Amino acid sequence: MWTVDKGVEDLETCAQIVDAARLIQQGEVVAFPTETVYGLGADALSNQAVEKIFVAKGRPSDNPLIVHIGRIGQLETVVSQVTDDAKRLIEAFWPGPLTLILPKQDTVADLVTAGLETVGVRMPDHPVALSLINAAGMPIAAPSANLSGKPSPTTAQHVRGDLEGRIAAIVDGGATGVGVESTVIDMTVKPAMILRPGGVTFEQLQAVLGTVEIDPAFLLGAEESPRSPGMKYTHYAPEGELWLVNGEREAVRKRMESMLREARQMGCKTGVLVTSENAAEWEGSGCADAVLSCGSLSDLGSVARDLYGVLRQFDSLGVQFMVAPVFPRKGMGLAVMNRLEKAAGGRVVTA
Ligand code: TXA
Ligand code: MG
Repeated sequence: MWTVDKGVEDLETCAQIVDAARLIQQGEVVAFPTETVYGLGADALSNQAVEKIFVAKGRPSDNPLIVHIGRIGQLETVVSQVTDDAKRLIEAFWPGPLTLILPKQDTVADLVTAGLETVGVRMPDHPVALSLINAAGMPIAAPSANLSGKPSPTTAQHVRGDLEGRIAAIVDGGATGVGVESTVIDMTVKPAMILRPGGVTFEQLQAVLGTVEIDPAFLLGAEESPRSPGMKYTHYAPEGELWLVNGEREAVRKRMESMLREARQMGCKTGVLVTSENAAEWEGSGCADAVLSCGSLSDLGSVARDLYGVLRQFDSLGVQFMVAPVFPRKGMGLAVMNRLEKAAGGRVVTA
């Protein structure tokens, strides 16, 4: 385990980064921080190297990976065509939490794209990530550095818990800032289509492109229609059972209380996800074993930043039944709700 002092003047020559870059060049996998979540990186041009990512994570090989570049000149190694709209997004949001789906270059390893003709590419906004990619001198393919099915890691500690002993090295750059993954947008269709909400918001993309398509379920939520739990929503799943409660604030509080009481009567260890605004109220209520505060309702970006850490904490406390409120689907709230809905596996009630 290495810790990188972020104050280091020239990260590319810092010993930890040089060593990690050498491991990447040798075809090994290395975990490193980005501004969104920790990534598990390997040489994007080598099938042999990329295969190790899938093995370490236990990830199905039909799910393509994102390629990370360290400077704009590297883009042509990865994609064969950059549309005008893609150029506008790059100008506005790179380096940053936005992944563009574009036609792939032949050099990209087939395993990265799961055989698709397109590739996801982004330039991360993190000094350690950029230095590592540039020191390695090649684009780095990296999914989130969690075991498949676990919440994405936002600290090196999370990575260690999931992958220690399974990968060559972990570069510790402290806690990540955004907390949820990049937004994935398909630039091979017109209008461009958001495939995953993330660190760059729908509103920000709309402001640059004018028109952006997005599955209406992301914007409106599908909580009114019952869904079968655990089918395609097995990502980000905590070990306990998470329920989302929708509705007006006071009604939500009452409903959560009664759900928690009922679960306790059945012998479950219970937890509630709150925000800084109502944390004290819940702590005093004595109706949950774990009251975990996740950012502030007045700043949905702060909820995103804390979300995966809080989900992991419920797990480590052995909580078996959890409730969380439905957050507004605006700005970063869209990504927050997408991850919470996946974690809840479709368990949503209206108070
Ligand atoms: O913030 C992030 O994006 C983090 C950090 C490490 O950069 N990475 C990340 O990677 O979240 P991963 O593998 O966990 O998620 C990649 C997402 C998946 O939903 C995948 O299906 C999609 O991007 N994706 C990748 N390539 C694609 C392609 N060619 N077409 C459609 N979707 C693609
Ligand atoms: Mg992931």
